[in-house]
Amino acid sequence: MEMETEEILSRSNFIWKGWPSFDAITLLQVIRKCQNPTQAQSATFNVDASSKSARAMPDNLFGIFFEEINHAGAGGLWAELVSNRGFEAGGKNTPSIFDPWVQIGNDSNIILSTERTSIFERNEIALKLEVLCDKNAKSNPCPSQGVGVYNPGFWGMNIERGRLYNVVLHIMSVKSVDISVSLTSSDGSQNLAQHSIKGQKFLGWSKVEFKLRARGTNSNSRLQITTSKSGTIWLDQVSVMPSDTFKGHGFRNDLASMLSDLKPGFLRFPGGSYSQGGTLMNAFRWKSTVGPWEQRPGHFNDIWNYWTDDGLGFFEFLQLAEDIGALPVWVIHNGISLNDQINPSSLPSFVEDVLDGIEFARGDAHSTWGSVRAEMGHPNPFKLRYISIGNQECLNGNYRANYLKFYTAIKSAYPDMKVVTNCDGSIGKLDHPADLYDLHVYTSASDMFSKAQLFDKISRNGPKAFVSEYAVTGNDAGKGTLVAALAEAAFLLGLERNSDIVEMASCAPLFVNDNDRRFNPDAIVFNSDAQFGTPSYWMQQFFKYSNSATYHPSTIQVSNYPYLLASALTWEDTNSRRKYLKLKILNYGSAAVPLNMSMSGLETTISSNGGIQAVLTSSKLSDENSFQEPKKVAPVLTKFAKAGGKMSVMIAPYSLTSFDLLLDKQNLRSSI
Ligand code: AHR
Repeated sequence: MEMETEEILSRSNFIWKGWPSFDAITLLQVIRKCQNPTQAQSATFNVDASSKSARAMPDNLFGIFFEEINHAGAGGLWAELVSNRGFEAGGKNTPSIFDPWVQIGNDSNIILSTERTSIFERNEIALKLEVLCDKNAKSNPCPSQGVGVYNPGFWGMNIERGRLYNVVLHIMSVKSVDISVSLTSSDGSQNLAQHSIKGQKFLGWSKVEFKLRARGTNSNSRLQITTSKSGTIWLDQVSVMPSDTFKGHGFRNDLASMLSDLKPGFLRFPGGSYSQGGTLMNAFRWKSTVGPWEQRPGHFNDIWNYWTDDGLGFFEFLQLAEDIGALPVWVIHNGISLNDQINPSSLPSFVEDVLDGIEFARGDAHSTWGSVRAEMGHPNPFKLRYISIGNQECLNGNYRANYLKFYTAIKSAYPDMKVVTNCDGSIGKLDHPADLYDLHVYTSASDMFSKAQLFDKISRNGPKAFVSEYAVTGNDAGKGTLVAALAEAAFLLGLERNSDIVEMASCAPLFVNDNDRRFNPDAIVFNSDAQFGTPSYWMQQFFKYSNSATYHPSTIQVSNYPYLLASALTWEDTNSRRKYLKLKILNYGSAAVPLNMSMSGLETTISSNGGIQAVLTSSKLSDENSFQEPKKVAPVLTKFAKAGGKMSVMIAPYSLTSFDLLLDKQNLRSSI
């Protein structure tokens, strides 16, 4: 039995602190971490675990929301190391800027310019390198390191010793070339890997592919393409991808693993405001993001102000959802951007475009758009079952008319598709049909705590709620504080209690590249080679077994201390088929609380051999994690020595605590 407990511990990402002799000691240690705790009166926590009171929780209650914000995808989850790989970021007019590519060599040795000479119709710009120097010329010899261009990636490329990198570039030249493609340190002095292309003529555009194995490590590297031979060369669509991406699908391994560790029930994408675009011209348009990566035009993310090559496109979002075991939720463009919108006469074509997108995702491999998906390597349909008609446009005068057109067309072609409106169904009956309504909750910590009751009094008859964006923001939140995480935990406990009318919830934003913070706080922080979860990320780990779990009503009571919230559910470990009773207790106040827990009505006994206790707390409410202290605020796990139907525990101030109590196998009911 202990093996099983250890297995759970090792599979979780919490900090395992070993086996204490007395669970109370660990609790006291946690309490001592907090400043001058007082002690509240004893509280009681009664759980009615009988099958007659039990309720099945939604399969996809807690999920994730990915938005291309803060360089979450480009320069983040999407593992491509080259930034502006097709030289398109400067626009279609030439000459255009080609940042962040930088010239190597001075103007007397090399002239760089942009031309519309690309072989790719949708992204015409290519880079022309006129090399004036030559290693054999007496009058203008090239400098010893050669001349050319380098790309620093997104604030430096992470190159690791022994790792293999797939390099692709498209090239054209007037005469035979002598080119060196290398990965170097940011000043070019440390050569980490190199490949030579010598003696070949590329009179027309040619695709050149090779692998580079790094012989050194540097998290601030760059890609250099240099030569010491005079002549003219054109470059286009240059890519460097690590060969070991998540499930081989191009996602940065460490970041995708953090997502999959949350066991998300769904993945909402691609935004947020990003899906609307500041203007229609710059909105995410799915058709421009599918097919071979070289042929994607890329687009300017005018909401969060950066270029994206759209390597992370519609197909990749669907693939990511599948790879992390989540259902995709596509937020479509409904014809309304933040600053402009379509003329009603264009609406049919936008509706058609969405139907094409659904066919791409789940149509037969021989259908028009399903075949494009199949060509991309996924003949089987993706499980697209949820569509959000936009993001936050309900107050726009045209929203309802547009919504109804999309709704009717989608439902008649795909009756099983669940359609989400972004008009708030919690404040009254909606005037249009919908399966779910989308709600975004950004607020202070104290207000978020009080929102634990938000859904208690809402009608049980309307469409279900999808809280697709929630976060404590503002001063309380910093870049991700303990207090923000605890207040969000209160909110999620309220969602669990109301999961008869709340079907889905996800925090926002999910990712931030530390070099481009556009929105605070975020669940996962990263740079080129490191990453950490904020307290909110760790808080969400306490809720990862709620999807498909069985909810048990409970009461938690104490005099004069309105800071305790709790929930109880049973969940099954899909690997071992073992069942656990999970108790979560939030203490949002400054006192330690002696808590008497009592579980009644269980049809099986709680294994006396213990369970696992996890505690998320820290010494200060404003404590945050950082690259230096990535797990300063992270759950501490211990084995709980004496479990049973009645337990007395001490709950630390300002903490979220969970107990996973193993249920004895022999008496398990087959279902609740
Ligand atoms: O999560 C950040 C932004 O907040 C989203 O893009 C938008 O939907 C919300 O206003």
